[in-house]
Amino acid sequence: MINKTIVALDFPDLESTKKFVDKVGSEIEFVKVGMQLFYSEGYKVIEYLKDKNYKIFLDLKLHDIPTTVSKSLKVIDKLNIEMVNVHVLGGYEMLKRAQESLSNTSLLGVTVLTSHDQKEISELSLTKDIASLVCDYHDLAYKAGLSGIVCSAQDLEHFSVKEGFFYVTPGIRLNQNHDDQKRVMKPRDAFDNGSTHIVIGREITTVQDPLGFLDQLKEHYERDC
Ligand code: C5P
Repeated sequence: MINKTIVALDFPDLESTKKFVDKVGSEIEFVKVGMQLFYSEGYKVIEYLKDKNYKIFLDLKLHDIPTTVSKSLKVIDKLNIEMVNVHVLGGYEMLKRAQESLSNTSLLGVTVLTSHDQKEISELSLTKDIASLVCDYHDLAYKAGLSGIVCSAQDLEHFSVKEGFFYVTPGIRLNQNHDDQKRVMKPRDAFDNGSTHIVIGREITTVQDPLGFLDQLKEHYERDC
């Protein structure tokens, strides 16, 4: 399971990323680069992480008209990374064009952010409940030919997962502090619920001893088997 645990490198720059990478080395295999780090360092950080042999999920959450998203993804595809994502809210045409623009990279559709709760969804005039929205967005992403979705591990209880489809779930907490995440789950429970990959960020990136956290995580995976 550790190889399906994606560490969110939510750092401000390459220097702080390197400090973290020097500590964890090959104890992690899969990393996520988000907007902050990519906007700050661009391709430099991708090249650095590729040199270290990490699998990379570029979490840019694209959401624009189909042509713009398609052209942007053609550029991203040249990076030869594992995963990139778009918002399912961009609609079927955007999803399909996005998928057709990639040949080297798996495309994930972001469904409902794990920081959203029902109140916020209602404020956006989305009248269905979160579970139904995620289910509908899942079906749309699948129909458009994407490789998987990003959702909360809690959402996976509400529909049947498809064989070979990726279910990447952030909002994971081994310990107590939820930060701004509202729909959270423990790592092992998330895998048991059908996650193919989980995303862990601040719980590992903000501690003094990330290797200690990884030991605790491995124990957690083994203990509940
Ligand atoms: O620190 P934490 O473990 O909460 O980090 C979660 C990571 O997953 C962040 O990088 C965040 O941008 C990302 N993410 C998320 N919810 C989504 C998609 C991505 O929290 N629906």
